[in-house]
Amino acid sequence: MRPNDSRIFTVVCNIAVLIIVYLYVDNKPKVDTSLSIPQNAPDPYKSRAIVIYNRIPKTGSTTLTNAIGYDLCRDNGFNAIHLNLTKNKFSMNLADQADFVQNVTTWTEKLPAFYHGHVAFVDFTRFGRPNPIYINLIREPLERLLSHYYFLRYGDNFRVGLKRSKAGNNETFDECITKGGKDCDMKSLWLTIPYFCGTASFCSTPGDPSALAQAKHNLVNHYLVVGVTERMADLITVLDRLFPSFFKGAAAHYKQLGEDRAHLRYTNKKIPPKPTTIAKVQANPIYKMEREFYDFAKTEFESLWNRIFDENGNPLPSQFHYEKIKP
Ligand SMILES: *[C@@H]1O[C@H](CO)[C@@H](O)[C@H](O)[C@H]1NC(C)=O
Ligand SMILES: *[C@@H]1O[C@H](CO)[C@@H](O)[C@H](O)[C@H]1NC(C)=O
Ligand SMILES: *[C@@H]1O[C@H](CO)[C@@H](O)[C@H](O)[C@H]1NC(C)=O
Repeated sequence: MRPNDSRIFTVVCNIAVLIIVYLYVDNKPKVDTSLSIPQNAPDPYKSRAIVIYNRIPKTGSTTLTNAIGYDLCRDNGFNAIHLNLTKNKFSMNLADQADFVQNVTTWTEKLPAFYHGHVAFVDFTRFGRPNPIYINLIREPLERLLSHYYFLRYGDNFRVGLKRSKAGNNETFDECITKGGKDCDMKSLWLTIPYFCGTASFCSTPGDPSALAQAKHNLVNHYLVVGVTERMADLITVLDRLFPSFFKGAAAHYKQLGEDRAHLRYTNKKIPPKPTTIAKVQANPIYKMEREFYDFAKTEFESLWNRIFDENGNPLPSQFHYEKIKP
């Protein structure tokens, strides 16, 4: 080899080594050190969101669950899940709460999720997790009890043919109150307060003032919004405005539902109580507390509504802006 040839040979060898090294390095699995978020990543707030509607019987909850849950879940990309508690007990024990909190917060395939069920408020922070978004709908306590009372006797238009537990019993609510019957026991009015109070033992003691206080506290601090049955459409409108990632289109959807769907369940027969019966119920201390809670919730709803919408029900423009943004 001439000196010139050997220099060319060295260069060629070096290039060959470089190519081999390059190919080898390039074929090794790449470790992605980039911290940038993929463009199609889901909105983390939305994808991790959990809404819980701890629905109260005989308030219109089936109508609401369908209108904002099952009817919207496909279009708005969330899962609707029924939480069914054994034997209609609505207060979960602490072990079940721990399992429930662990499950719903880590069951990522089902997130975002809308859970609904007859269950008393569960405080996730007790288990070191942030609370989900709670919503609810409540009804005037005597109306709710009457609806329940006649529902057990005559059923409703929803599951026709299903024999209810008191079918064939013709006793009116007035007669029940007069003879102090079990089905109209004032203790059965104690329902909305324990649903909001939670699972502490005092929550299920009818007439306990601490339960009323705790229920009000939870409503204000842990519920996004609580509506009342006679303003269900307005509740849906508020949800649509406050939380579009779940409830976008809910107001328009509810408006176009036929009368039969908007009031899915009618108790088949309801006999209005006599004034003497009403007076007797209104004098009862448990009724008074449930009514106080209902009035409290209603005032909160009216107040939040009036500050979001104008007199014609149109949303007010946003009333904040930013300034002095630096650097
Ligand atoms: C809840 O579960 C029980 C037992 O599996 C079942 O009989 C009942 O129909 C369920 N409730 C609803 C509302 O689906
Ligand atoms: C949550 O519970 C459901 C029903 O028992 C189960 O199928 C699912 O795997 C659970 N998810 C997690 C993350 O534990
Ligand atoms: C209930 O009413 C039906 C029809 O009016 C009557 O045949 C039946 O005997 C009544 N039952 C009771 C328990 O009063």
